[in-house]
Amino acid sequence: MNKVLVLHGPNLNLLGSRQPEIYGHETLADIDNALRQQALLAGWEIACRQSNHEGELIDAIHAARLDGTAAIIINPAAYTHTSVAILDALNAFEGRVIEVHLSNVHKREAFRHHSYVSLRADGVIAGLGSRGYALALEAVIEAATG
Ligand code: DQA
Repeated sequence: MNKVLVLHGPNLNLLGSRQPEIYGHETLADIDNALRQQALLAGWEIACRQSNHEGELIDAIHAARLDGTAAIIINPAAYTHTSVAILDALNAFEGRVIEVHLSNVHKREAFRHHSYVSLRADGVIAGLGSRGYALALEAVIEAATG
């Protein structure tokens, strides 16, 4: 069965209550549940993980290299702008990588305009809220099934 990993970076566990004017009112559980439903309908296996720790995100990417994961959808959150280590881990992963941001990072502070992860990502979606994850999953499924 085709398999996708959804990875959420630091502070995204607070979605729903964290700056809802920027990140929306949906919780992370709402987003993950919708993605699980979408994956199920397409016959895909999905794992959703959130961590506030860079090393745990890297370990999850390493595990995905070995367990047949076809694609990673990642919102690295603040690590987007700082983490060469997450970029290196993604560079060692051979499947598709889609980077998602809830907010339009390009419309915000200058430090959010640069993404290390974009150097690896096959696609980037920003500014569409939780819809961005659904579109990323749709793109992953479409790319694999043609
Ligand atoms: C974010 C944007 C990042 O700049 C920020 O640090 C986040 C969330 C987004 O989804 O819009 O935590 O990745």
